[in-house]
Amino acid sequence: MRLVTLDTEGASITGPTATLLYDDWYPALRSDQLRDNQLATAMLLDLPLVLGRRKDGKIFAMRDSCPHRGIPLSVGWFDGERVTCRYHGWEFEPCSGQCAAIPSLTSHDRLDATKIYASAYPCVERDGYAWVYIPGAGAGRKLDAADLPPVPELAKYSGKYRSAHLTADLPCNVDHGIIGLMDPAHGPFVHQAWWWRSRASIREKTKRFEPIPEGFRMAAHAPSGNSAPYKLLGVYGEPVETTIDFVLPNRRYETIRCGSKWFTSLTTVTPVTASTCRIDVIAAWNVFYNVPLVTPIAKFFGAKFVRQDQVTMIQQAEGLRHNPSLMLIDDADKPAKWYFALKQARLDGSGKHPLDGPVELHWRS
Ligand code: FES
Ligand SMILES: [Fe+2]
Repeated sequence: MRLVTLDTEGASITGPTATLLYDDWYPALRSDQLRDNQLATAMLLDLPLVLGRRKDGKIFAMRDSCPHRGIPLSVGWFDGERVTCRYHGWEFEPCSGQCAAIPSLTSHDRLDATKIYASAYPCVERDGYAWVYIPGAGAGRKLDAADLPPVPELAKYSGKYRSAHLTADLPCNVDHGIIGLMDPAHGPFVHQAWWWRSRASIREKTKRFEPIPEGFRMAAHAPSGNSAPYKLLGVYGEPVETTIDFVLPNRRYETIRCGSKWFTSLTTVTPVTASTCRIDVIAAWNVFYNVPLVTPIAKFFGAKFVRQDQVTMIQQAEGLRHNPSLMLIDDADKPAKWYFALKQARLDGSGKHPLDGPVELHWRS
């Protein structure tokens, strides 16, 4: 499912730009879109990509630009083994980017086509997504996923489970997307619904956070008793424990466990360009495994929830158009402050963590 954002004229909505974090994995698209010698395109961190799946099943991501004269490789041909440029027919092995043939060369030419490379990026299939490693400028060629940080993965705690996913374009930069994702105070206003919570249900909350590498964890606790889905989970009669981790550059992992029953989700906010982003949610669960209709119902409510955030961000984009000055307040916006500090620490290489130990935050939501 994909929710897109367009203004009344059908143009995409953009906001102020954000600094981007390179040298990390980002989800490009659903990997089931890669099949039958077809080429697909995606934009990640302002980088146009062409993706596909080789005959042997391996997926690839290249810069969607021929190294010869820059025409998008996606308008060329792919036979399951080689990508052929539409302009002068240069052929590339897509996983390495190595040029395999230049049709115009004759026996008089000394040029070794195999010394030429199109830009190819590490690309791995995980949880139904094609994850692409986007290197920073001048990082050199890195193609072996084994030398890179691990590809993010949704935790699953049993062999049998159901899963769902959802994608929505957000008309704001990645920073606004991420702080919207971790903002606890918008819930009762943006996500008012009979099945979730109402404005009248606002009460004071105390949450314990602790530092984890490049992120923070909202420590295990019984989730808010004022939300219906958690009440439903309670039917199993065992204590419900939830953990929410935020980890750079853009990941929120949620785990809910109740005895042998579990629900997990991984939400990422990925920069498409410096001023727009996309939210992807993948969830898996073994609760209600045998109850029919649970997956479509979960998808329906999940889409409704994300749609509410999306509508709010479209409205926010209108306000951000004129670059207003903004504020982050304690304690409700403290996680957003930590995010900015973690991001800065990665950018300047200081490795400084904004939390030096566990801390409690208080807010009303
Ligand atoms: S532009 Fe691609 S082969 Fe010339
Ligand atoms: Fe939200």
